[in-house]
Amino acid sequence: MTHRPTALLPFPDTATVGPAGIELDGVSLTTLAAEFGTPLYVYDAASIRTRARAVREALDSAPHGGHAAFALKSQSALGVLRLIHAEGIGADCASAGEIEAAQRAGIPGSELVIHGNAKSEQDLRAAVTTGARLVVLDGRDDADRLAAICRETNRTQDVLVRIAPGIDVDTHRHIATGHHGSKFGVTPAEGAELLRTLPAGLIGRGLHVHLGSQILDADPLIAAARWLPVFAKAEGIPLEVLDLGGGLGIRYTPDQDAPDPGQHTRRLIEAIATVCAEEGMPVPEIIVEPGRSIVGQSGVTLYTVIGTKTVGDGSTWVAVDGGMGDNMRVGLYGATYAPVLAARPLADVDGTYRIAGRHCESTDVLAEGVPLPAPQVGDIVAFPATGAYHQTMAHSYNLFGRPAAVLVDGGAAHLITRREAVADLFARDV
Ligand code: LLP
Repeated sequence: MTHRPTALLPFPDTATVGPAGIELDGVSLTTLAAEFGTPLYVYDAASIRTRARAVREALDSAPHGGHAAFALKSQSALGVLRLIHAEGIGADCASAGEIEAAQRAGIPGSELVIHGNAKSEQDLRAAVTTGARLVVLDGRDDADRLAAICRETNRTQDVLVRIAPGIDVDTHRHIATGHHGSKFGVTPAEGAELLRTLPAGLIGRGLHVHLGSQILDADPLIAAARWLPVFAKAEGIPLEVLDLGGGLGIRYTPDQDAPDPGQHTRRLIEAIATVCAEEGMPVPEIIVEPGRSIVGQSGVTLYTVIGTKTVGDGSTWVAVDGGMGDNMRVGLYGATYAPVLAARPLADVDGTYRIAGRHCESTDVLAEGVPLPAPQVGDIVAFPATGAYHQTMAHSYNLFGRPAAVLVDGGAAHLITRREAVADLFARDV
């Protein structure tokens, strides 16, 4: 790999610095801002393909096959979903809406894994009628409701049971899910009991576990993968399928380092093959549900500087034309980013700045202590690593419309989500 300036490390794989500043696959970010307006989500197709392909290739090497279900909650722009599906990856859907997105992107029911800790009748019905490959049960009530729909529609449904194994991971507590007390899944003992006593119409295929998200130390994920077959054998429950969820982290700032998704998937497969050999049991089919690790690094959010001012405590604000409406992660998880000026990412900095969002909330601050080269009104600020959980979590507080999104592919930019117009904001008022 060619040497990349440190400031560019969290940016997509194709990022380089040209005469007009940062380019993705040869397309300049400032040109994109001028053409499509800001705030703007930009996704680099090559970065997505590389990661999707690496995971797919790793699964192809698994002894009893493997399936990847991309977590739509991390990114559901249809233009991105089609790209991921073209690499042989299905979808993990957590609502009737996400099932609809998968269908619109051409992902068939046979490639869907359905989730949710509080699935509604509508969600479950959508799962059954699209012929979802697997529904992951979050408890007994979920099973009973799903079984009733199966009886009524005269179908059967393959299911997994989600368990919370009580394994802690090093991530923000708001995105940890596998610990004791999690709202997701059931205890291992209850999970085994549920699988043994499923209502008629549901066919138990195995277990699901998802420990959390933005996990940079993958060892707990490997530990869970090693533990599950041992547990299934001890309980005498079927393990034709083992779904290990997602959770692998990405690099948000230059000082972070993240595992490679393809290598991580190989590690999981090896861990399971080894433990199954030790236990003398057949190797299950492996499912993984990566979200962030496929799309996170591909994204850049562009903002325009609206104003700068130095305030009473001597700090300087740089206010931009976006904020918590397009990036909920700072407010929710204290997420940190390493933004740069798109036109002069490597220029000498003259101080540190606080980047303010435009919403009427003091908590709407996108980044603090950012070293920048004298930002001016009209400059384009580029936030890297915003491909996952940004567009999908966007909202229209203060009645700012949600941003547009473009996909850079093969040296050209394609609009994949149009900007939300003011008129769109009133489309539901009756
Ligand atoms: N499978 C299940 C059952 C999940 O709940 C999730 C994410 C995934 C897979 C995908 O996880 P990933 O590979 O993307 O880590 N909004 C938060 C992240 C919430 C994750 C929710 N579940 C954030 O922005 O950090």
